[in-house]
Amino acid sequence: MTETPIDPAIDPAAERQLLALDVNGTAYEVLCESRRTLVDVLRHDLRLTGTHVGCEHGICGACTVLVDGRPARACLMFAAQAEGARIRTVESLSGDDDGRQLSDLQQAFRDHHGLQCGFCTPGFLMLAEGFLAERPDADRAEIRELVAANLCRCTGYQSIVDAIESCATARRAKEATEATATDETPEAAEATGEER
Ligand code: FES
Ligand code: FES
Repeated sequence: MTETPIDPAIDPAAERQLLALDVNGTAYEVLCESRRTLVDVLRHDLRLTGTHVGCEHGICGACTVLVDGRPARACLMFAAQAEGARIRTVESLSGDDDGRQLSDLQQAFRDHHGLQCGFCTPGFLMLAEGFLAERPDADRAEIRELVAANLCRCTGYQSIVDAIESCATARRAKEATEATATDETPEAAEATGEER
């Protein structure tokens, strides 16, 4: 008996494919329709509901995640396009599994009142996280330009800019302190022949 091929137009299950995704350092396998967006897979298949969905048209930025370190709109990508890439969602920022230990960026948003209803916040956090990794020396003007990429209906943006700027400043100060400490180790002194 010959098998009749399934017509994808009649049975959408025929269009399913098995995807291998790397999300927040964990390898997942997901069986889904080829047309399924990355944000839908993150939220509905992987239950990573920190990534929000607003417009689904690439306008609001609520769905921003990092794809190989760069901010991307997860509503505009098919999940299949994310195979082979390292995906990071807002859940990756916290220092522990239940999300209670805030990262420095999350803490800065909290300290500077960078959120009100919080709907846009995961998107802004991932936007800023990707941006600061690439531009750690960014000044306020650049941060203002950055935040124009996403929509927030509540805060008026100033507090978001304050939070990102404060985090960037703190990271630079920490890096400078660590560099100084490294220069001052006994090994370094020995290497340079300095008396202590
Ligand atoms: S939900 Fe993706 S940009 Fe608005
Ligand atoms: S905090 Fe409400 S939309 Fe930004």
